[in-house]
Amino acid sequence: MQILTIVGARPQFIKAAPVSRALRARHNEYLVHTGQHYDDNMSRLFFDELGIPTPDVNLEIGSGPHAEQTGKMMIALEKLILAQKPACVMVYGDTNSTIAGSMAASKVGVPVVHVEAGLRSFNRTMPEEINRIMTDKISNVLLCPTVTAVQHLQNEGITAGVYLTGDVMYDAALHFGELAEQKQSVLERLGLQPKSYLLATCHRPQNTDDKETLTGIIDAFIKSGKKIVFPVHPRTRAFLDKYDLQEKIKNSSTLELIYPVGYLEMIQLEKHAAKILTDSGGVQKEAYFYQVPCITMRPETEWVETIADGWNVLVGSDQAKILQAIAAFAPYHPQSSHYGDGKSSEKIAQILDEHFNEK
Ligand code: UD1
Ligand code: UDP
Repeated sequence: MQILTIVGARPQFIKAAPVSRALRARHNEYLVHTGQHYDDNMSRLFFDELGIPTPDVNLEIGSGPHAEQTGKMMIALEKLILAQKPACVMVYGDTNSTIAGSMAASKVGVPVVHVEAGLRSFNRTMPEEINRIMTDKISNVLLCPTVTAVQHLQNEGITAGVYLTGDVMYDAALHFGELAEQKQSVLERLGLQPKSYLLATCHRPQNTDDKETLTGIIDAFIKSGKKIVFPVHPRTRAFLDKYDLQEKIKNSSTLELIYPVGYLEMIQLEKHAAKILTDSGGVQKEAYFYQVPCITMRPETEWVETIADGWNVLVGSDQAKILQAIAAFAPYHPQSSHYGDGKSSEKIAQILDEHFNEK
């Protein structure tokens, strides 16, 4: 069976790494990179480091406003799908590459397989929430990472083709966690002692695009007086420049901005952080996997299990709440296996066999 996989953004490369390996043991995969992310440290680095096969094609769509970026992707993807005639199209998560792929495929009658289906923030101001809802409505196979995700779909009347698989990011975290141990230490390179620093990431438009909000977050980081290592997403770097925040950061002796790092270095930084501050979906879960307290700079999260277990706390972009959590949030509750057994990718390859009746 030929599966046409569409990826385009950093977290999709990480999710596709274990899934692609499992798929290729049984099926033919045609891998399409939309080019949504294109900097070396947002794209090529992950393919090299995680052994993801070189994409069969890179559409090089690049950045742009939502409709323009999504529209350009759809135009190119429709042609490709018609030419390749795959048995199904596989999309990941909730980015513009996801919605472009699912819409292009479903309109030419090719079944859509959605990895990470059923996630909801119930916040429709997030572009990702629109992408998820739309993709789930038109997907034929919905692969859910959690029981909560299955329930969300049920509540929306979506039950056909729904499978509980576990989270492929857990597969990646386990597999590459071991590899990361063997890699040269990024902590040494940055002169960090384990558990002596906090790790921060921040790239959601709600946090980056408004001057007051971004300034508030940076001020909170600096005011905390804690050593904070902050690999900066290119979107955020552009706004830090635009709002003249770089000078203030340079003058701080505790806040250290670095360029985005590869996944193996990121795992090292996560594992050894005292706490993690983030608005990333993936990083919230990795904090949970590696049992590092997580402070989430969002008003809500899709990964509600991390909150219920007490390992994650929501602080939005409120400076006082961020400072309070940096100073005092200290969970050490038992965890449960909400995210599967680390074999979700194999399960997905099997489900596709069964669903499309191929052995
Ligand atoms: C996208 C996803 C988001 C995901 C994130 C992962 C959408 C709507 N959003 O957000 O869900 O969490 O990826 O990181 O799909 N840029 C570069 N170089 C790059 C990529 C981006 O400079 O390689 C800059 C450009 O200025 C661009 C901006 O970052 O305009 C935003 O990039 P884009 O892919 O549109 O959205 P993200 O914020 O990365
Ligand atoms: N990540 C990385 N290097 C970085 C920042 C993040 O490898 O400098 C990884 C992180 O470990 C996680 C994924 O990127 O696996 C999360 O992607 P991102 O935060 O860009 O998107 P989201 O998960 O919020 O959609």
